[in-house]
Amino acid sequence: MDRSRRFLRMLTLALAPLAFFRTAHAQGVGEAIGDRIVRFWPDDAARSSALPSIALQKPMPALGPVPDSFVVRPEFASAQGGRIIKLSVPRGTALYGMGEAPGRLRRDGQSSVMWNTDAYGYRTGSPSLYQSHPWVLAVRPDGSSFGVLADTPNRVTVDLFKGIEIRAQGPAFPLIVIERDSPAEVVSALASLTGYMPLPPRWALGFQQCRYSYAPASEVLRIAREFRDRGLPCDVLWMDIDYMDRHKPFTFDPVGFADPKGLADTLHTRGFRSVWILDPGIKEEPGDAIYDHGNRGDHWVKMPDGEPFRGKVWPGMCVFPDFTRASTRQWWADRVGDVIERAGADGLWNDMNEPAVVDVRSKTMSESARHDADAELGGPGYHTRYHNVYGMQMARASREGMLAKRPERRPFVLSRANYVGGQRYATSWSGDNGSTAEHLSLVVPMAVNLGLSGQPFSGPDIGGYAGPLTGEEFAVWMGVGALMPFARAHTEKGNIRKEPWSFGPKVEATCRRALETRYRLLPYLYTVFEEASRTGLPVARPAFFADPRSGWLRNIEYEFLLGGDLLVDLQFGELIGAARRLSDDRRAWREATVVAGEPDAALPGLSVRAGAIVPLGPVVAYSDERPLDDVELLVSLDAGGRAEGTLYEDAGDGYAYQQGEYSRLKFVAETRGGVVHVSIASREGRFAVPAARRYRVTLLGAAKGAKVQGP
Ligand code: GLC
Repeated sequence: MDRSRRFLRMLTLALAPLAFFRTAHAQGVGEAIGDRIVRFWPDDAARSSALPSIALQKPMPALGPVPDSFVVRPEFASAQGGRIIKLSVPRGTALYGMGEAPGRLRRDGQSSVMWNTDAYGYRTGSPSLYQSHPWVLAVRPDGSSFGVLADTPNRVTVDLFKGIEIRAQGPAFPLIVIERDSPAEVVSALASLTGYMPLPPRWALGFQQCRYSYAPASEVLRIAREFRDRGLPCDVLWMDIDYMDRHKPFTFDPVGFADPKGLADTLHTRGFRSVWILDPGIKEEPGDAIYDHGNRGDHWVKMPDGEPFRGKVWPGMCVFPDFTRASTRQWWADRVGDVIERAGADGLWNDMNEPAVVDVRSKTMSESARHDADAELGGPGYHTRYHNVYGMQMARASREGMLAKRPERRPFVLSRANYVGGQRYATSWSGDNGSTAEHLSLVVPMAVNLGLSGQPFSGPDIGGYAGPLTGEEFAVWMGVGALMPFARAHTEKGNIRKEPWSFGPKVEATCRRALETRYRLLPYLYTVFEEASRTGLPVARPAFFADPRSGWLRNIEYEFLLGGDLLVDLQFGELIGAARRLSDDRRAWREATVVAGEPDAALPGLSVRAGAIVPLGPVVAYSDERPLDDVELLVSLDAGGRAEGTLYEDAGDGYAYQQGEYSRLKFVAETRGGVVHVSIASREGRFAVPAARRYRVTLLGAAKGAKVQGP
């Protein structure tokens, strides 16, 4: 570039913000796509040339003009190579969402770049993590709420410094705005657009133990034995990459895992499920059966010169399946079917699917790589468009593979990378966190904000992936982690042991209590998951869901709700200067002890909402050890002496529940003449609950000691 042209270019860049201000305040064109749901486009041209949405479960046709009463009005502008959308929010509005972004629960003042990134060693405020949820939930002072979804898979920056500002690269895209009377209704409406989490198999709600790696197979069996011998409940053991032959997906280490099926079968006899990892990178190794097969089918993402994109991952130099095509997803699904059969796997773990590439600055695939995407996703295009959905489409293929192989079972897939709407395919975990207090403090904000962004099923690596910690610290992690929707302990290679018994008897006792608490709560948790799969409501909910109008509840993250009726107090509020706790209001919340024995100060406190009944099961070694023949009802009466609760049950796996093979019991407690009568007020569904079931009623709080009758 000669000097004068360079000067001209610098001038243009310097004046760019001015150009932006000149074109600002464009109102865009809006169209209603549902009840109080509006899609705004920058202009008509953008609307007519738009690429399909990948976030939405199905295309949403325009239904008519924007109602006059619709108050949220974005402003559109274009800037150098991109777009800007601004929304002002009323004073006192609290902002949430943005998926797993690492920051405080309340997102006001935060900024996040939606660009799926392998983020080992991330910190509070790291700009990009593994998943992209370009979604913000705004709760106004009166509790009425709206949500905005930047409906593009491209790189998006969401700035919440002053209202909401969304900056995105690439072509024009719409902004979807949902207006409702409460935050819960907004989140529910989001799920009606982006899809519901399919009901997971019940075992996936149990505790899970992982390490990079339990290998060889005898080590996996040793871990299994320890859990059972020590009476520590656990449902799932995980196989990390060392089960493979030189880390190559769809292979098994011929020495360490010579008989994977035999291993899985043995685990089954002891009540364990197994989940096996699969990374997307296929080693470029002519002569290798999987590589040759994929090559013949032309399944790799390519560079513009027609050569496959090559990048280094665990196995060495790899090529990458183009999951944006149905034919490649089918190819992957077939391999998945084959490997889960050979491994006797119950679930799959999709990792490194941002996709992660090592030894390059971008940590990922070149943006000039081309995807031969199907029209459904927008047709052929650069990696820039498909980067954020690569992991989502991989998880989709894995799920389809599991379902095709075992149509009678519910697939379970855990995916590190994902995109808004990805709850349709996979569960999430928060990647390679650390064992620090900082990361412990991120656990609730991440899981709750993922729930507010459409993903109800998530949790951290309990104990932290990177770095060591003390037994006391591990016990606290376990207390919180065992109450997350997804509860799995995991750590990296070369790190200290992080099994519940690794820190001596005192910590083991605390862990046992934490795990027994989770297992006692399973009937309630499963009821909450079933609700989430139907309504899109989160499993772990923010404390402010208890009263969306309350101002002080909006920052609370040292307490959270599990479902609508259980309040979890992490007990470390004091450490971070918490002045008030929701659970302090003993008229609204009644303290509950779920496991017998001395309370443990390291573990969260639990309270049941006044007016609610929470069903508990017995302590079991794993989720389907025995039928639910003993049910304890924790009854927390309201001021009028009444309470209500629900217990959802089904076979725990399979799809018969969709044909009526489920049971939904509604319990009611009423106080008459000083006696609390507890009864089953209604039964729904054909699933036969154990005939010999015994109910035990525990009255919480002031009502303790009152006379009880039934059910
Ligand atoms: C990635 C994953 C981690 C896993 C490791 C080896 O770092 O995030 O969970 O253990 O890869 O597969």
